[in-house]
Amino acid sequence: MLMRFRTITLAITGAVTSLGWHLPLMAQGGIVDLTRLSNYANQPIPDYILKDNTGNGGNANPITDIGATLGRVLFYDKRLSRNDTISCASCHQQEHAFGDPDTASTGVSGTTGRHSMRLINARFSRESKFFWDERAATLEAQSTQPIHDHIEMGFSDRDGDPSFTDLVTKLSLIEEYKVLFTAVYGGPGIDEDRIQKALAQFVRSIQSFDSKYDIGRSVIGNDDDPFTNFTDEENSGKALFLRAPGDGGADCASCHQPPEFDIAPFSGNNGIISAIGGGNDFTVTRSPSLRDTVDTSGIPHGGFMHDASLPTLSDVINHYNSIPTNNEGLDARLARIGRSGDQGQQLNLTQTEKDNLVAFLKTLTGNAVYVDPKWSNPFDANNSLQVIVLPMDTDHLIFTGSGTSREVTVNAQAVPLIDYVFQTSSDLVNWTSTNITAPVSGALTMTVAAPEGTGKQFYRYIYIPES
Ligand code: HEC
Ligand code: HEC
Repeated sequence: MLMRFRTITLAITGAVTSLGWHLPLMAQGGIVDLTRLSNYANQPIPDYILKDNTGNGGNANPITDIGATLGRVLFYDKRLSRNDTISCASCHQQEHAFGDPDTASTGVSGTTGRHSMRLINARFSRESKFFWDERAATLEAQSTQPIHDHIEMGFSDRDGDPSFTDLVTKLSLIEEYKVLFTAVYGGPGIDEDRIQKALAQFVRSIQSFDSKYDIGRSVIGNDDDPFTNFTDEENSGKALFLRAPGDGGADCASCHQPPEFDIAPFSGNNGIISAIGGGNDFTVTRSPSLRDTVDTSGIPHGGFMHDASLPTLSDVINHYNSIPTNNEGLDARLARIGRSGDQGQQLNLTQTEKDNLVAFLKTLTGNAVYVDPKWSNPFDANNSLQVIVLPMDTDHLIFTGSGTSREVTVNAQAVPLIDYVFQTSSDLVNWTSTNITAPVSGALTMTVAAPEGTGKQFYRYIYIPES
């Protein structure tokens, strides 16, 4: 125990010396520092972004820094699958805009029937329903469906699978979740509602507004005028994307509406009606945001559409240019122009126009979302958390007087009867530790003598998960 503890202390102090004490430690694998939370709740959102699907006018489940932090841990935790092999992040990878380059994603019992969806800017849409076929009424309702799914995470309660109640029991026995749920919800109880709220907060926090498009849009103040930072090709592509077909445009914006590029509610399908593994699928009426369809080098994050059947953006444009069949559910907007017989729309775009549309779509890719540690895996290389730093009423004191001895009391809310470590340090490098077991009330309180003289003194309660 003592040996293990020493190693952990070294890991923390190393991070602090290089980052400075006021910066979040979340970048450090395995450290969840609830005293230095990343900013999820108050991220800058451009003033032209107005759509938001958080229920009840934004009040149903508003993002909090601590709630999204718990969501991040859950999102990356493979123990949410029945055999500890698959997390949400297995199929929603940060480097791929939280999508999956594979056509079908691998779950605990085989592969998915549809292509995984990118999760960037999931919050910013008028459409509040989720999944390709919009079968989840809210993001909260969506967030535990993969856990219930037999193929994806396997707590389906059928074909020999454990049930969701079994997952709740499993997580309830993990001490670090008692610590985290207590910090977020005031008590260690775990239920589906609490899991959904935390996961949905984390997913809604994943935002990308630092694209070339955003720079141009914020300077010009509308979508219609040419952007000063765009090439001629990108500006022509933008005009085609926006304009209606009767006006020589490709009419993409009537469904993928800027500046969010979310999908219009009540759209039909777009003529991609095949299914992975054969057969037809007429039910797909939703698309992820068209932001970040390609990475920062312009490479797609896997094939496009619910069946990943179109490998490149050029293939996508070719599809809309000439929609092969007018199926029953084809959106009326895609059957208006140049249609003959059983075909959908025929736009007759030139090769230059097609290339310009692709050039414009590539301007919608951001940067930070791919690398910001706040959306990265919080677990270390062994899939473990090493330490959780608890929120507390005081984390440091600055002494100005000299020569007098003073006392400091530091309080935190903890899980009853669990072991914690109280630490003090004057430099955030060397820590003095005292083991403390939380009392039945859960109220941790330590009174220590402040050091002589002037200077800073830091305090923290840490929890070290059993490995
Ligand atoms: C085995 C792969 C896999 C796992 C694990 C997985 N997903 Fe997904 N996810 C998918 C696929 C495939 C879809 C599209 C499914 C469909 O529409 O039928 C999807 C869709 C979604 C969507 C809908 C996005 C939209 O714009 O409509 C969200 C949100 C999402 N997943 C979040 C999660 C969360 C949260 C978890 C973990 C609890 C998770 N996923 C686990 C593969 C996965
Ligand atoms: C009638 C509404 C509608 C119009 C108009 C429309 N789309 Fe779509 N788009 C959709 C739907 C629905 C999907 C999801 C279809 C699927 O996966 O089967 C989609 C999917 C996409 C995708 C793939 C997204 C992904 O994550 O795989 C791209 C890219 C795209 N559309 C670009 C365009 C462009 C460019 C135009 C104009 C040429 C356009 N769309 C016009 C409704 C529309």
